[in-house]
Amino acid sequence: MTRGRFVTLEGGEGVGKSTQIRALAAAIEVRGIEVVATREPGGSTGAEAIRTLLMEGSDDRWDARSEALLFAAARADHVARTIRPALARGAWVLCDRFVDSSRAYQGGGGGLTDADILTLHGVGSEGLLPNRTFLLTVSPAEAARRLAARGGSDRMGSKPADYQARLAARFIEMARAEPDRWQIVDADAPAEQVTAAILEGLAEWL
Ligand code: TMP
Repeated sequence: MTRGRFVTLEGGEGVGKSTQIRALAAAIEVRGIEVVATREPGGSTGAEAIRTLLMEGSDDRWDARSEALLFAAARADHVARTIRPALARGAWVLCDRFVDSSRAYQGGGGGLTDADILTLHGVGSEGLLPNRTFLLTVSPAEAARRLAARGGSDRMGSKPADYQARLAARFIEMARAEPDRWQIVDADAPAEQVTAAILEGLAEWL
């Protein structure tokens, strides 16, 4: 049923995912392809409402299970209302984070198993997976510099340093376990080089 391509960018905060989504959208659109650039949590009216619940308030507003369910609910709405319709009409969907963020943050750091997250994804989004996922990695020093430059992080980002380290390790582990879908990109490089590396990883479809 899917004719378009579904591409996601993953990684910690401050790795430049949103900058890359903008650059990629422009580079793909000039080839005459429709692009839907979107993000999670969010990307549809219902999912944006859930995003507000997730991103605002105190650190302990949600326990790990409630939080995982809210992300899965937001994703279900995003998939049903935005992503699947776009793919069905042949558009490319470029998404800033997707289920792999839940696997890393809720499954790797929050006490739920990977199987739990994938079960929620099966129920909510019928298990939709990207055609290709790029993991953007930066050194801890560079991530801290970029985060400071954009004025700190939100509720989800205000977690202790060991949480950030665990999740970086978890992302690498997922990428290595599924090398046909994932590519790891060194995002310490200048933005234009990162865009070029990602486009190279998509060249077979362009
Ligand atoms: P971002 O806008 O910086 O990407 O922030 C989204 C935050 O939400 C980020 O801290 C990662 C977190 N997140 C999860 O914990 N689980 C998820 O499934 C998604 C999509 C994001």
